[in-house]
Amino acid sequence: MLHISRPRTVTSIVELRDVVRDWRRAGDLVAIVPTMGGLHEGHLSLVRNARRRAKRVIASIFVNPTQFGEGEDFENYPRDEVRDAELLASAGCDLIYAPSVSEMYPDGFATSVSVTEITGPLCGSHRPGHFDGVTTVVCKLLNQSQPDYAVFGEKDWQQLVSIRQMVRDLDMPIRIASSPTVREADGLAMSSRNRYLSVKERKIAGKLNRALFASADHIAHGIDLDRVLEACTKALLTAGFSEIDYIEARDSATLAIVNRLEHGKEARIFAAARLGKTRLIDNVPIERTGMAG
Ligand code: PAF
Repeated sequence: MLHISRPRTVTSIVELRDVVRDWRRAGDLVAIVPTMGGLHEGHLSLVRNARRRAKRVIASIFVNPTQFGEGEDFENYPRDEVRDAELLASAGCDLIYAPSVSEMYPDGFATSVSVTEITGPLCGSHRPGHFDGVTTVVCKLLNQSQPDYAVFGEKDWQQLVSIRQMVRDLDMPIRIASSPTVREADGLAMSSRNRYLSVKERKIAGKLNRALFASADHIAHGIDLDRVLEACTKALLTAGFSEIDYIEARDSATLAIVNRLEHGKEARIFAAARLGKTRLIDNVPIERTGMAG
């Protein structure tokens, strides 16, 4: 049996910087994959993406309290360090950075990094403060590790474009890369939160992506966008989703609302829907067919 040794874990900024400094002295490029643990194949695809870009790959594991709202799942968020380390080893990660909350936010911490505009709609309007929590912690993780690359998943598209905006606006010398959403056999976007679903809910959950892909196809073929999204919302409620936070078509880069497809611009359908206590998000591209106006 092939034995893959677990990557070293460091918990302090000082240790992290020591390791990165040695790598840099050896001339190695460095990439980081920020995560909150509870890892799945989606995260591992990010690590593999990072590996293709840099000789050295760090995965951070930090369940960031400031991006969870009141009544959200911070306490119950899946934590399994041993399994995560084994998975990271199998994907070629060199170092795990797992700081404590007090290492990340020492007493007296008083700064927030806030990206405006693109963090306003979609999850921004349903999870107040969420994106400030994300951009603040990602800014800190990037400053702490000073990588050449950071890799994020396209499932959290609004997070990805917010981080790109932050890195651009703050002149951070880091390239942001992304990997496509990894899906289960029925198309459900992989997420650490999928494990909250009951067996019955899990069956219903698979319908979200199918409804989005079908809607994107209808829009691409010229069917009225509002009508399609309204029908999609109704279909998901009928299928058993308890609540739809949003289903909207937006410009992929600016997240501006899209009423009709335009040449030269890429649009996506974004959705957040609740199944009992679980909130699922997904997004799919609207691929033009040449027929739509
Ligand atoms: O996508 C996530 O897991 C988190 O939002 C991130 C980027 C690790 C920041 O806490």
